[in-house]
Amino acid sequence: IQPASSYNDDLRLAHVLADSVDDQTMSRFKAQDLHIETKPDLTPVTDADKAAEEAIRGQLSRSRPRDAVLGEEFGSTGHGSRRWIIDPIDGTKNFVRGVPVWATLIALVDEGEPVVGVVSAPALGKRWWAAKGMGAYMGRSLAAATRLRVSNVSSLSDASLSYSSLGGWKERGNLDEFLGLTEDVWRTRAFGDFWSYCMVAEGSVDIACEPELNLYDMAALVPIVVEAGGRFTSLEGEDGPFGGNALATNSILHSEVLRRLNPNLDDLL
Ligand code: IPD
Ligand code: CA
Ligand code: CA
Ligand code: CA
Repeated sequence: IQPASSYNDDLRLAHVLADSVDDQTMSRFKAQDLHIETKPDLTPVTDADKAAEEAIRGQLSRSRPRDAVLGEEFGSTGHGSRRWIIDPIDGTKNFVRGVPVWATLIALVDEGEPVVGVVSAPALGKRWWAAKGMGAYMGRSLAAATRLRVSNVSSLSDASLSYSSLGGWKERGNLDEFLGLTEDVWRTRAFGDFWSYCMVAEGSVDIACEPELNLYDMAALVPIVVEAGGRFTSLEGEDGPFGGNALATNSILHSEVLRRLNPNLDDLL
């Protein structure tokens, strides 16, 4: 039995939304007739990305007509303090190549704070979720769930770090600091996308970071990491508003990683 959250009903709805698109996206995964387009930023988008976002938007307009919505493929609608944030398929490059590491990300942000997050990865048979004050869990439903807890690794030499791609560190001006960090941790992996952050919540990875991320890439991940006992900030250590880049850790390692990635942090504070 999970502790109650004032966002229980919203969490329940997020699960219903995820349930309703899982079968749809799975039916398009590895489909011979998958339609792939290239967006202006030269990244791929498929009919499955668009159909999933449309289906979620349709249900939200019926169930939460007053709430605003932001989705990767169809942009922003509505105003107000409550906003649903959708990444219909996170990991589209995996999806188009038949790699099962992709997920539908659904979040509710209230007054700028991500308070509900559901990450549903049907090709992996996994779902991670959290609501503010309730803890973070893994499992296909509210009833059958395992509580998540970050690791207690306390030194970089024992830590596992996961990221998505090397692009962006150079533009941010600290590729050398990032590469130095990867040399000093116990191991580095590029699990990528949502998966690095969900593994921080599970305690299997201790540090996940990314120099280029949008709000819809991370909104659902924030409550999952935080409710599991981790910290989620920008690469400069800000707790929000989220967008741009991300650092998630088991909390213990957070300030040390911030200092490693920002040698001038003391001057900035
Ligand atoms: C991408 C993933 C990836 C990140 C890219 C995103 P998409 O999202 O989140 O990890 O490095 O910047 O665009 O396009 O697969 O939803
Ligand atoms: Ca994404
Ligand atoms: Ca996407
Ligand atoms: Ca995309």
